[in-house]
Amino acid sequence: MNYKELYNESIQSPEKFWADQANQIEWHKKPSKILSTDENNYPLWFADGELNACYLALDKHIQDGFGENVAIIYDSPVTQTVKKYTYNEVKTEVAKLAGGMLSLGLKKGNMAVIYMPMIPQAAFAMLACARIGVTHSVVFGGFAPHELAIRIDDCKPKVILTASSGIEIDRLIAYKPLVDEAIELAIHKPKKVIVLNRKLGARIPFKKYDVDYDALVYGSEEASCVSVNATHPLYVLYTSGTTGKPKGIVRDTGGYATALKFSMQYIYGLKPDEVFWAASDVGWVVGHSFIVYGPLINRNTTLIFEGKPIRTPDASTFWRVIAEHNVNVMFTAPTAIRAIKKEDPNGEFIKQYDLSSLRTQLLAGERCDVATLEWYQQHIPVPAIDHWWQTESGWPMIANMMGVEFLPIKPGSAGKAVTGYNIQIFNENGEELGPNDEGYVVIKLPLPPGTMLDLWKDNERFKAGYLNKFPGYYFSGDGGFKDEEDYIFITGRVDDVINVAGHRLSTAEMEEIVSSHHSVAECAVIGINDELKGQIPLALVVTKSGENLEHFQLQHEVVQLVREQIGAVASLRDVIIVQRLPKTRSGKILRKLLRSIADGENYQIPSTIDDEAIIDELNHDFTIAKIGSFK
Ligand code: COA
Ligand code: AMP
Repeated sequence: MNYKELYNESIQSPEKFWADQANQIEWHKKPSKILSTDENNYPLWFADGELNACYLALDKHIQDGFGENVAIIYDSPVTQTVKKYTYNEVKTEVAKLAGGMLSLGLKKGNMAVIYMPMIPQAAFAMLACARIGVTHSVVFGGFAPHELAIRIDDCKPKVILTASSGIEIDRLIAYKPLVDEAIELAIHKPKKVIVLNRKLGARIPFKKYDVDYDALVYGSEEASCVSVNATHPLYVLYTSGTTGKPKGIVRDTGGYATALKFSMQYIYGLKPDEVFWAASDVGWVVGHSFIVYGPLINRNTTLIFEGKPIRTPDASTFWRVIAEHNVNVMFTAPTAIRAIKKEDPNGEFIKQYDLSSLRTQLLAGERCDVATLEWYQQHIPVPAIDHWWQTESGWPMIANMMGVEFLPIKPGSAGKAVTGYNIQIFNENGEELGPNDEGYVVIKLPLPPGTMLDLWKDNERFKAGYLNKFPGYYFSGDGGFKDEEDYIFITGRVDDVINVAGHRLSTAEMEEIVSSHHSVAECAVIGINDELKGQIPLALVVTKSGENLEHFQLQHEVVQLVREQIGAVASLRDVIIVQRLPKTRSGKILRKLLRSIADGENYQIPSTIDDEAIIDELNHDFTIAKIGSFK
């Protein structure tokens, strides 16, 4: 079947289509209901099915005779370690860790937070939770204690799993004190903290709630997999929204396992036993779907890479890893390719490695600019496939479905709608736009299996953020257009979420923090274009009258505040003082106008502006601040 036939079938007969796909995974109890609705009339997939995601990822392959195949390769240039784990080895450790968690009093339905660097134990922790029906919430290691505390208070974990430290290029980051600080800050207090001592020299302050990871695993019996309902929350993953409070995306188990198995085969074109590498982090959705669950459910070898595209030790790392481990399909963010391109513009490193195992390069997480795509194609003779998705969807929504039919690549487009996603472009009134007209990217309900179930304990926000704007459709928060051949071009967020080096961040959250500085009267944080990171935040502040703080001092203090509260990953470096912020007559800050002025783009002065004279003032302030030189 070609792409078009498969796509049409998925849209015309979704129940039959996904029932067939659900048959590709093993269920403890096969679902009889394929598509139903919850009490809010939101679609549910496979509601009465029962299964276990850890069983599908590990035990099943062992039962099928593949226990000695390599499940995980841990490649850590920062610790100079390469270690391979077979499916048997992973299962033993995961089952013992799960047994240890049971002995600490955890049971099906509880919550565990995982705050770990890119080490195999992060995947073991996720799988151990899944094994006993504990919902996990992984928090990206680059987030500061304040952010961790917000998540602890929202999802109320019974335990936290962490490690003594992580390594950022050549900097040892002690994780345990950050966890202790987060617990101090949080109102909810987890009962236990399971700490893996990596023995890298970091200080591990001892607290009464600590449990040693190794001792727990060593001293525990193996736990078996419990059966959970298809709609049981496998995980809650927080992502940035348009307010200061992150959103807990709730993922089901049955629809997700079905969608991931489908994605590995039909979208990424992977056969079992091949090597798949997603160079991302377990703290992001890519890590959940395509470092841990997807490749393992599909019986691939997955790579856990503790390093960066550059400086660990140089821009050759990616090519070394591909050659050394015979990677067949790789996934990274365009930022990583831009970073490599900057260090090695002529691709000299690439020539030093045998990349013949590589079949496909996947790119996602942010818009892929044409220059980056072309540079990649010029130096590496495999298709570079841009594709679009979100934490909310959990798996690709627009792609070139490599396992079905390789369609010609159109640079700038993420491809065509993936099977199951009826993607349309709407104007503000909810009317469908024609070819090449830019509007809101929306998806007709029901979304296919594996996409978000809800927001954790906040169904009102779920409806308000995603469903109410265009009834009957999921609102993605992205803008874009379709061409005459149904290729879709994503043009960027239409809300105040920004994408910095493939990391999704909320400007509203940064604004709350910047505003808390004692000298700041009001502020706006906007995302401006950046050659390396795609976007970076820029804070515009109006100081309180009478405050005569030096610009550099204010900049330093504001940057530090954001680093302390969100983490270094927020990448805020630039703060400029302006006399006023442009507003509408009703007092709303005109952020789009600010972005255009900061990026040096053409702009129209909105008719709603309260005072046009401010444009000259801003241009003057931006010139003095040399905004252009930040890029
Ligand atoms: N723990 C602690 N700190 C972290 C961290 C982590 N897991 N991840 C990032 N940080 C810190 C960095 O050390 C840096 O700190 P600094 O300002 O003190 O130097 C800061 O957060 C910003 O990090 P980053 O955005 O990664 O920028 P960078 O300049 O260190 O590196 C790149 C630039 C391009 C190499 C890097 O951004 C990169 O690898 N990007 C690809 C991202 C990616 O794969 N995303 C996948 C999402 S699908
Ligand atoms: P996240 O939830 O962190 O995966 O971020 C999702 C957001 O990243 C999307 O809403 C888009 O704005 C952006 N994004 C992800 N992939 C792409 C892509 N291939 N092209 C353009 N934008 C993308």
